[in-house]
Amino acid sequence: MIDLGVNIGSVHFKNPILLASGIIGFGEEYQEIIDFENLGGIVTKSISLNPRAGNKPPRIVETPCGMLNSIGLENPGLEKFLNEKVDFLKTIKTNVVVSVAGSSIDDFVEIAKVLEPIEEFKILELNISCPNVKEGGILFGKNPDLTRSVVRRVREVSTKNLWVKLTPNVTNIGNIASIAEEAGADAIALINTFEGMAIDINTFKPKLGNVIGGLSGPAIKPMAIKRVWEVFQTVKIPIVGMGGIFSWKDVVEFLIAGAQIVQIGSSIFNDPLLPIKAITGLSDFLRSHNYSSISEIVGKTKINE
Ligand code: DHB
Repeated sequence: MIDLGVNIGSVHFKNPILLASGIIGFGEEYQEIIDFENLGGIVTKSISLNPRAGNKPPRIVETPCGMLNSIGLENPGLEKFLNEKVDFLKTIKTNVVVSVAGSSIDDFVEIAKVLEPIEEFKILELNISCPNVKEGGILFGKNPDLTRSVVRRVREVSTKNLWVKLTPNVTNIGNIASIAEEAGADAIALINTFEGMAIDINTFKPKLGNVIGGLSGPAIKPMAIKRVWEVFQTVKIPIVGMGGIFSWKDVVEFLIAGAQIVQIGSSIFNDPLLPIKAITGLSDFLRSHNYSSISEIVGKTKINE
């Protein structure tokens, strides 16, 4: 087997395949399908300071090439997370990235402070890009000043690796990525979902209870690749790529565009074993092209050659 290992900041990943936030909750059910030990890591559903019941249904709409969702950051809140989820997460034999959401900068800071002593968690992913909540969420990631402040303030209280997850719903994602880098991010995670909407032609009503939602799935992959490629040219810190990965070939494409590591999201609803197939496919690809490590293809897009 080729060594698929990769280091991001001070953390080692045995391979570059992670499960994205919001796809498997906290992993209790999905562990029956996949042994997490085989993966580079998993990312939890975003945790907020207080519990959130989420948005009114319907929360998910299928589209021809992807999924529109408006969950509304449903999660048990920090206290229940500590009491009911952390013990299980500590038993997982791979990296567990804790996704953090907040309606204010103080929320992010408070959560980071509380998580600081838990040594098993080496990485926080700051979700400043959720499209489905009224306060915080995407508003942070669309605003350069708020992006700077939230990353800086969390950096002051946290020694963990900080990944900042960006929204593609901005004019210049490279600019926001640079700001996050300057403010102390260890990696840029991109992209979160694209804002979208669907209307029932019989009732004229929006199909989602929250009217708008976030689009994921194969439809968004070319747009994600473009943004990863753009951000790769803008920042020096590593990129965590995601958006519509549907096969191992998509993983290779993200790496060539500039991601060092990727997250698989809604496509596991189509194929729950995709993460494992992606690891095998990536490994076979590297071997058949005589590459000995991932670093030989990361960011190697050939323009005008
Ligand atoms: C939700 C959060 C996200 O960050 C996202 O991309 C899509 C949905 C949510 O919980 O509503």
